[in-house]
Amino acid sequence: MTLGIGLLGCGTVGGALVGLIDAQPDLEIRQVAVRSTTKARSAGVSSDLLTTDAHAVVARSDVDIVVEVIGGIEPARSLIIEALEAGKPVATANKELIANYGAELLALAEAKGVDLQFEAAVAGAIPIIRALRASLGGETIHRIAGIVNGTTNYILTKMTEEGASYGDALAEAQHLGFAERDPTADVEGFDAGAKAAIMASIAFGADVVAGDVFHEGISNITSTDIDFANRLGYQIKLLAIAEQFDANGDGPSIGVRVHPAMVPDSHPLASVRESFNAVFVEGDSSGELMFYGRGAGGEPTASAVLGDVLDAAAALRRGGHRPMPLAQRLPIKPIDDLPSAFCVNLQVTDAPGVLAQVAGALGENDVSVRVMEQHDIAGEEAGTARLIFITHVAPERQLRRTLAAFDKLAVVKAIDSVLRVLGE
Ligand SMILES: NC(=O)c1ccc[n+]([C@@H]2O[C@H](COP(=O)([O-])OP(=O)(O)OC[C@H]3O[C@@H](n4cnc5c(N)ncnc54)[C@H](OP(=O)(O)O)[C@@H]3O)[C@@H](O)[C@H]2O)c1
Repeated sequence: MTLGIGLLGCGTVGGALVGLIDAQPDLEIRQVAVRSTTKARSAGVSSDLLTTDAHAVVARSDVDIVVEVIGGIEPARSLIIEALEAGKPVATANKELIANYGAELLALAEAKGVDLQFEAAVAGAIPIIRALRASLGGETIHRIAGIVNGTTNYILTKMTEEGASYGDALAEAQHLGFAERDPTADVEGFDAGAKAAIMASIAFGADVVAGDVFHEGISNITSTDIDFANRLGYQIKLLAIAEQFDANGDGPSIGVRVHPAMVPDSHPLASVRESFNAVFVEGDSSGELMFYGRGAGGEPTASAVLGDVLDAAAALRRGGHRPMPLAQRLPIKPIDDLPSAFCVNLQVTDAPGVLAQVAGALGENDVSVRVMEQHDIAGEEAGTARLIFITHVAPERQLRRTLAAFDKLAVVKAIDSVLRVLGE
């Protein structure tokens, strides 16, 4: 039986999806909703199929599965609700929508007994949602750490490998089409934050929304930070991290955050270069897993959407669906309570007793040091040295207190940088 597809949106992803669906023997695109029917379309998109009335596409009796690749909240949300209300499964690539309204839409899909799938919303072609939902469905997952934004990974790769400044690397990414003209969503971590919320929701079976995610972007990372990190054996990456904590007796809680971090050269995430994405999963029985691939682009993203469409088609033919309830809210830990190791780079007076004062401030705040190095500062006035140390894992609050204590020490001339380190 041929199933009819209603395609909402025919831009970068939708345009690539048309050819992939046309190559499927049992699927047929019935109509394609766009904003403008006169705009030039990629070859393979028949102008006869185009309409500006997306609601009518959803309502057609010969549309069995709805694919939403418009993006944004509205009208995407209303259109998906209309499809689910009509008992039609939906595949969407819309991270913004799922990261904000995922629980509500999944509850509706559940009530209607149909599938809502969104593999392409996180890390493009990488099948991470299906892996978390199905293959790792029974696994206790402790932590997910992902490079899920290709733009920032491209910029950091250029800064690392070519010594480019942040501004020059961003300009090159924009020139090559890897970064938007307004890069805020990427470089300030909002895009990765939405993906972190979705991964946390699926991995921990809880309703985690974009607003729950702490995020800090890469715009303050300097070539000097990268240089020091490299010399110490680390790569700086923008990480999306979702963790589940099982506090004694208090029940589980979640930490979800996006920030730049120093990743040890020996860690698989350190070798993820340019615009590639990767997601590193740590589970109780599974151990460590890494998923790697193209996180964006028309064809890779369309490939993930096609997988969802085929899944939905198989479920329709079988007469069932795969439930994915996200009803519960779990406590979200504030960033101050989240554990990290830190790399701190200080300018200090080069005199006897300085180390003892710095060590005293660390000890008073329960932060212990794993590695410490002292360097002379070339070209600086005599009597100044650089002290770089990496701490053991400690809650962020303790590190903040330590930095406040450093500020009060006359021997600490400047706190040049503080970076989180992907720790044990
Ligand atoms: N691009 C990627 O690499 C990528 C990767 C992962 C996920 N995604 C997600 O995939 C979705 C689509 O992204 P995209 O890059 O393909 O976007 P895009 O190139 O901007 O395409 C959006 C499409 O939606 C149509 N559209 C906009 N408003 C509409 C409306 N009110 N009614 C009907 N059609 C409307 C546009 O019509 P016109 O063509 O007439 O303007 C266009 O065809 C987004 O949720 C995005 O986050 C994209």
